[in-house]
Amino acid sequence: MKFLIINGPNLNFLGIREPEIYGKRDFGALIALCEQTCSENGIECETYQSNHEGDIVDRIQAAYGKIDGIVINPAAYTHTSVAIPDALKAVGIPTVEVHLSDINAREEFRRRSFVSPVAVKTICGKGFDGYVEAILYLKEYLEKS
Ligand code: DQA
Repeated sequence: MKFLIINGPNLNFLGIREPEIYGKRDFGALIALCEQTCSENGIECETYQSNHEGDIVDRIQAAYGKIDGIVINPAAYTHTSVAIPDALKAVGIPTVEVHLSDINAREEFRRRSFVSPVAVKTICGKGFDGYVEAILYLKEYLEKS
């Protein structure tokens, strides 16, 4: 089983960026946690971070036929992008959407996610633990289907 973990814009600034919202741990720690969770559960994993919408679309398309499941935090593109959910639908790879913060408890504009309708599950407000939950959920989902 092979997963692709995608992080969108500004998540590479974790630890520096608004620590009161996103925490003090840095992006490297997040990636290490994802890689550890995958390896402990017999999952191969690739990680990808980009600040550019089109690059994220390209990476999703490149996953076609090669990746079994996607965990994505589209960051700000969650609320603006049609191209990212279109790409996820196009490749048909089961996807879990994750957000560190609770997007429903912040500004009004964060409540709308264009990605949620194409995701098998959305996890938000659980910080780094949300990624662990997303990986484990996706594994179980794929084993059942
Ligand atoms: C985020 C929430 C988004 O609204 C925001 O633009 C981000 C991060 C989160 O992980 O909580 O960049 O996706």
